[in-house]
Amino acid sequence: MLTTDEKQLIQHAWEKVLGHQEDFGAEALERMFLSFPPTKTYFPHFDLHHDSEQIRHHGKKVVTALGNAVRHMDNLSEALSELSNLHAYNLRVDPVNFKLLGHCFQVVLAVHLADEFTPQVQVAYDKFLEAVSTVLAEKYR
Ligand code: HEM
Repeated sequence: MLTTDEKQLIQHAWEKVLGHQEDFGAEALERMFLSFPPTKTYFPHFDLHHDSEQIRHHGKKVVTALGNAVRHMDNLSEALSELSNLHAYNLRVDPVNFKLLGHCFQVVLAVHLADEFTPQVQVAYDKFLEAVSTVLAEKYR
């Protein structure tokens, strides 16, 4: 459960993400593919080379979805319902992978927000991304 302070930290830090959704998303995906190679098996139809157009395009979609989640932190289940269906029923992504992408996205934030990614902001994002992962995994039960 995110506290009011944590929600504010998340919203404030997200302002630094705006305008960089494609770059940050592509970097998070690239980090995930390199650090956790089995995640690549879900993208056999993608060109997974550095800076590929498909990774950039997909990265933008993922970070835009996270932005939507930031705007609906009090109602994540509803906000992410369609994505949750997609990942569980159509794509059948093993839920363990959601945590891996969340971890890589935190690394991206740490690199680009630098001093602004304080331990407090990190904790807030860790909890938020964990909540997103939980919602994306809800339909598997
Ligand atoms: C598609 C978000 C995690 C695999 C998508 C789409 C979004 C999205 C917005 C596009 C949906 C559409 O086009 O309608 C997210 C978010 C995640 C997450 C917010 C977690 C924070 C993952 C993970 C994997 C994965 C961990 C696998 C390792 C896929 C695949 C597609 C997809 C294979 C379809 C790609 C395509 O063919 O265009 N995801 N995703 N997702 N996601 Fe995720």
